[in-house]
Amino acid sequence: MAHQIKKIGVLTGGGDCPGLNAVIRAVTRNAILNYGYEVIGYRFGYRGLYKNETMPLTLETVSGIQHKGGTILYSSNKDNLFDYTVEENGIEVKRDVSDVAIENMRKEGVDALIVIGGDGTLTSARDFGRKGVKVIGVPKTIDNDLASTDFTFGFNTAVGVATEALDRLHTTAESHHRIMILEVMGRNAGWIALESGVSGSADVILIPEIEFDINKIVEKIEQREREGKLFSIIVVAEGAKPVGGDVVVSKIVTDSPDPIRLGGIGNKLAYDLEGLVENHEIRCTVLGHIQRGGITSSFDRMLSTRYGVAAVDLIDAGKFGNMVCLTGNKISYAHLENVIGDTKNVNPNGELVKVARAIGISFGD
Ligand code: F6P
Repeated sequence: MAHQIKKIGVLTGGGDCPGLNAVIRAVTRNAILNYGYEVIGYRFGYRGLYKNETMPLTLETVSGIQHKGGTILYSSNKDNLFDYTVEENGIEVKRDVSDVAIENMRKEGVDALIVIGGDGTLTSARDFGRKGVKVIGVPKTIDNDLASTDFTFGFNTAVGVATEALDRLHTTAESHHRIMILEVMGRNAGWIALESGVSGSADVILIPEIEFDINKIVEKIEQREREGKLFSIIVVAEGAKPVGGDVVVSKIVTDSPDPIRLGGIGNKLAYDLEGLVENHEIRCTVLGHIQRGGITSSFDRMLSTRYGVAAVDLIDAGKFGNMVCLTGNKISYAHLENVIGDTKNVNPNGELVKVARAIGISFGD
């Protein structure tokens, strides 16, 4: 209140993620109902800030969006305004256009900005903060790989989808005595594979944090056979790699700040196992963007709502330059200067891996 905030802007950057709409809704409702702020959304992430493409966020426009995946503001994972592609004399060149965005905000009367995104989007939020913009970050990613928060929203939904997929794959695995492989997302972190693998009763979980030996996977399949279990379920994170080997890259998105897209390890593993396992057909399912789409889980709706409310409370308290976090089930905040680039991986010796091993799950090591 002391900071004379009248109008706030909101944008979503990076890949879509379950819970984005729930954050937008919570921000808007808290801002209007408790602080009397006007709220606008920038469309297509930072591009909207540069081109001043806005839409009003009101109690009406955010109605009915809580459960929906995606983002009503649209998103982009390509537009870094500090290194933005513009055309000059018919040639594409990279320019820092952040001042244009700041001037747009000034003209629009936007006093503070809430940026909802992952590491790349929040890096730009930090840089706008350095230039004096009153900015608050909200962490999103299905990968759950940001160190400063116990959970990012979107992760719980992705784990739920992957778990259901494993439940369904059990049907075919049991009926046909097959080896079924499920490849899940997560970039270089194994959180989705680990949690869905334990919840979905996988026999083998392969994660980037523990390099695997294909012979150990064969041993596990054979051990199960000796126990009368004539099928096996393997969940493999897209960033998993064999001992001494490398990740499988599915695509290079040249105009993305983070161009490497992982993917393909599931099918490669199926191919490699074919020659080593007798008596079983091996099939791979790649879950892909299904993990990010559709209905948002109640956990993520709750977390997103808490984050959205906290982001507006931080604006009112004048605590700019911070990102909201979850620490031990309490909402807290950390300065963007201290959180960027700080990633969180599965600890190979941590409790969750020990739990999985304790119930007989193999990590292929
Ligand atoms: O970071 C979220 C994520 O879904 C990763 O798990 C995955 O590697 C990547 O994004 C996929 O990116 P895109 O949506 O550009 O294909």
